[in-house]
Amino acid sequence: MSQMSYDNWTTSDPNQVVLDDNLSVLPLLPDSSFRMIYIDPPFNTGRVQSRQSLKTVRSETGERIGFKGQGYDTIRGRLSSYDDSFDDYWAFLEPRLVHAYRLLKPDGTLYLHLDYREVHYAKVMLDVLFGRDSFLNEIIWAYDYGARSKSRWPAKHDNILVYVKDPRHYYFNSDEVDREPYMAPGLETPEKAAAGKLPTDVWWHTIVSPTGREKTGYATQKPVGILRRMVQASTQAGDWVLDFFAGSGSLGAAAQGLNRKFLLIDQNPEAVEIMAVRFSASIESGETELAFPQKFEAVE
Ligand SMILES: C[S@@+](CC[C@H](N)C(=O)[O-])C[C@H]1O[C@@H](n2cnc3c(N)ncnc32)[C@H](O)[C@@H]1O
Repeated sequence: MSQMSYDNWTTSDPNQVVLDDNLSVLPLLPDSSFRMIYIDPPFNTGRVQSRQSLKTVRSETGERIGFKGQGYDTIRGRLSSYDDSFDDYWAFLEPRLVHAYRLLKPDGTLYLHLDYREVHYAKVMLDVLFGRDSFLNEIIWAYDYGARSKSRWPAKHDNILVYVKDPRHYYFNSDEVDREPYMAPGLETPEKAAAGKLPTDVWWHTIVSPTGREKTGYATQKPVGILRRMVQASTQAGDWVLDFFAGSGSLGAAAQGLNRKFLLIDQNPEAVEIMAVRFSASIESGETELAFPQKFEAVE
């Protein structure tokens, strides 16, 4: 197990699994390093997060301006007047998303995995941060599992917002995406039915089966199947991908299977233990390194 090295990380390093608060690590990484960033942040952790200072400019009226356009503070103020908890949540996410934008390659893509409670607020905020033209898709991941509410339509989907750094020049290769079966294959030619169809922005995919082989034991683990599609479409072999709310490391598992390189960060020692098991073969072979910051070394 190697000692800390992420403060001088370069793209020629092995894959990395880092145990730390992502906001301690992200500022150490060089600009434009990742073709794709996927994050699945926790929602409503109940903690009021400390506010971080942001490197954004102020307009003549003193209002902070987003990456693209004006009026960032006004928009954020209006949103928080609808939902106080969003303000805390956004104060936590915002400085991390500012780094995500910086760390994306000029033709890179961000996938932000959320659910119905926060997605609409986040869409408005990302439009301001990335620019509305940079919005590529809202992917609906639909699953069918768990209890069904009788007092409203049972919510059985997550929302994944997709933003590109530059809407005029971004990488997207649908030819590489795993195809899926037609709903009515009998209506297609046998060749088309055998080839399957390109997924749309609505992805029907089971959750990680509680008894299946993919299960790691991490409560919020996402299925590799949905991450594979993102990696296939938005990166090429040899590219680096980043997940700084990595949990069980599903993005790394998808990346590894497709010959991409990965940097995964999580502050929870249990997550890093699970990733250490998940990537044990490649840690053993030296393709993946576990990195522990100074403050955790004493615990080791
Ligand atoms: C919803 S889970 C991610 C699950 C992951 N997508 C997977 O497939 O396993 C969110 C993760 O963010 C981590 N986390 C929360 N705050 C963090 C922070 N400030 N820095 C690093 N990780 C953080 C949590 O420990 C948790 O593992």
